[in-house]
Amino acid sequence: MPLETKLTKLLGIRVPVVQGGMQWVGVPKLVAAVSNAGGLGVITALTQPSPDALRKAIRETRTLTKYPFGVNITLLPSINPPDYEGYARAAVEEGVRIFETAGNNPGPLIKYFKSKGCIVIHKCTTIRHAKSAERHGVDCLSIDGFECAGHPGEEDIGGLVLLARAAQELKIPYIASGGIADGRGLASALALGASGVNMGTRFMCTVESPIHQNIKDKIVASSEQDTVHIFRTLHNTARVFKNGVAQQVVALERRPGGAKFEDVRELVSGQRGRLVYELGDPEHGIWSAGIVLGLIKDVPTCEELFGRIEREAEEAIDGLVRLRVPSSRAQAKL
Ligand SMILES: Cc1cc2nc3c(=O)[nH]c(=O)nc-3n(C[C@H](O)[C@H](O)[C@H](O)COP(=O)(O)O)c2cc1C
Repeated sequence: MPLETKLTKLLGIRVPVVQGGMQWVGVPKLVAAVSNAGGLGVITALTQPSPDALRKAIRETRTLTKYPFGVNITLLPSINPPDYEGYARAAVEEGVRIFETAGNNPGPLIKYFKSKGCIVIHKCTTIRHAKSAERHGVDCLSIDGFECAGHPGEEDIGGLVLLARAAQELKIPYIASGGIADGRGLASALALGASGVNMGTRFMCTVESPIHQNIKDKIVASSEQDTVHIFRTLHNTARVFKNGVAQQVVALERRPGGAKFEDVRELVSGQRGRLVYELGDPEHGIWSAGIVLGLIKDVPTCEELFGRIEREAEEAIDGLVRLRVPSSRAQAKL
């Protein structure tokens, strides 16, 4: 029996699971596979070299799925910022109606999308930022806990408390992000008041994910011990796969006097990270991964993964319901 939540109703999807924006990974093939399987696939705008390339990616996705999909726009701290406005306009003009925003100062972008009648899911890592985005008029929040791949913020609050705080503080629907890879995670998130989940790392390791098979195999062979935080001392913390390059960055940050971004620029270059996925060499550069590495044991198609998540969530929810017994029976046991 399908689960119906505020998220499934808001987005018109069957399963309350979103595939979050993923640099170099969130491309049409994966996005369409997620949407075809019942979730919300999301194209990562900045993976495309220009707003025009994003237009092409959106058109390509439309040829692969008839179901809703979204576009992620990530606002990064940058000296030469990308043409965010151009990407946003291109997506809206191409008819995209669902956006995931993430990063610093999303107010103007949210205002633009809302003026065009779009649905905005804003991803953030603190209740303070969530409430601010709520005031800006977003439709849903994606609450990214300490467990997540990529940027967990600087406050180190795990998903359990963050989601319980979201339940206390937020008026609009929210979804749980970070640390979720299966139906048990989905059921737990729903129990904490979320309307669904956002997953990243789990989708990297699917048949339709565009990354090299060696990296998928590496994910399957890894455990929850295999990530590390870089950029802690630069106050731009990122959870990445714990390879030699990441450990070099951490060592530079920990040396007496620390490190400036200039000192690690070459090690952390985005192009090196991209080559990890192309060449299939997990040591070539920095790549994002969450502690759900420990939960990932195979490389299913998105359809298999969604079928399994739905089944597991249903079993977990039924199991919880079975814990309830008539009070007369519980007392009789005492
Ligand atoms: C390879 C990879 C790249 C990512 N790139 C982005 C990005 O460009 N923008 C963004 O908002 N989030 C990005 N994320 C974060 C995901 O959208 C999601 O919030 C996160 O993966 C959730 O944690 P999980 O990996 O435990 O599921 C990335 C995650 C991964 C694994």
